[in-house]
Amino acid sequence: MLNFGIIGTGNIARQFAFGVSQSSRCRLAGVASRTAESAAGFAASYKIPVALAGYDALLARADIDAVYISLPNTMHHEWTIKALRAGKHVLCEKPLGANAREAAEMFAAARESRRVLVEAFMYRAHPLTHAVVAAVRSGAIGQVKLIRSSFCYCSRKIDGNIRFAPELAGGSLMDIGCYCISFSHLIAGEAPCSCQAAGHLHPSGVDDVATATLAFPSGIVASFTCGMTVHADNSAYVCGDEGYIEIPVPWKPPAQDAVFHICRNTPPRQDAPQAATAPAAPPRETRTVSAGKDLYAVEADAFAAVVLDGAASFMPEDHTMATMRTLDELRLQLGIRV
Ligand SMILES: NC(=O)c1ccc[n+]([C@@H]2O[C@H](COP(=O)([O-])OP(=O)(O)OC[C@H]3O[C@@H](n4cnc5c(N)ncnc54)[C@H](OP(=O)(O)O)[C@@H]3O)[C@@H](O)[C@H]2O)c1
Repeated sequence: MLNFGIIGTGNIARQFAFGVSQSSRCRLAGVASRTAESAAGFAASYKIPVALAGYDALLARADIDAVYISLPNTMHHEWTIKALRAGKHVLCEKPLGANAREAAEMFAAARESRRVLVEAFMYRAHPLTHAVVAAVRSGAIGQVKLIRSSFCYCSRKIDGNIRFAPELAGGSLMDIGCYCISFSHLIAGEAPCSCQAAGHLHPSGVDDVATATLAFPSGIVASFTCGMTVHADNSAYVCGDEGYIEIPVPWKPPAQDAVFHICRNTPPRQDAPQAATAPAAPPRETRTVSAGKDLYAVEADAFAAVVLDGAASFMPEDHTMATMRTLDELRLQLGIRV
């Protein structure tokens, strides 16, 4: 069993704590907040035995093996390195740091401390993602040429929202575009070699809508859209020369019956003479994948396997670093300081 301590009691910490309650390999041993009240309330909600005021107090405890860091993006670097140096393994929320330089320093600290550090891209641990990768690698859609994805939401709460705070390294690319970049890298099987961004800056100074293209050395291209003030389909497509794969819910797959569709023949050309009527939909094969437990329980179990069994990480260092470098470059193109 891996004894987890949680640092920060915000939105995602609650989802993670719920998930760990379904984990077969982790248990929650402590929680730390800036305030004693928040730590106590959180601990009561999730039946955590130890509630602490101040994050250092959690790192000082010998009964905590691993720390989950769910702080604003600019605080990941400081608290991950402190936790690693205190001998804890770290599962740190995405994006790993405020920029690629910070992320590199965090991995260097992990190596020096001989502890595990994984960026918490939970969708990468889910069997749906593994099944999509296996289908692509098996040649189900021929040679991959194009990857398209989107991750958007329309936020009404701006004041006090860490995502709209430039001083906390907010913005849509950092918050959700990072999913699309890491997914494209996973499917392409290599890091992007160039990228181009277009975006819109919110009055707060962060990018609230962004779109980007990525090119990969093999010739694969990817495009994605992310936004915090816009609705979109939040799906992903992997397109090959013999068909395409549609993943309707790629980022937060359900515990049961997560699906993806393999469409092996594309519709007839729209400019063909017989295309006066709408083209027939391509034949679809639907594959269903069930994790049997909450997404964050899957993530916690996968992290435990890395720590306890020496399993390969679901988000390897080179993937995190490539994502961080791409985020830096895209944000610089939008005029954002990184
Ligand atoms: N993987 C996912 O599914 C997912 C989903 C959402 C967010 N995230 C990531 O998780 C991290 C936290 O996001 P969140 O949505 O949980 O944010 P949140 O609800 O605002 O929570 C952040 C927590 O950080 C602590 N904190 C310390 N200093 C702070 C400051 N100056 N301003 C605000 N909070 C401060 C607070 O906890 P205390 O008061 O207890 O100290 C706060 O509750 C981000 O890196 C985000 O990208 C990941």
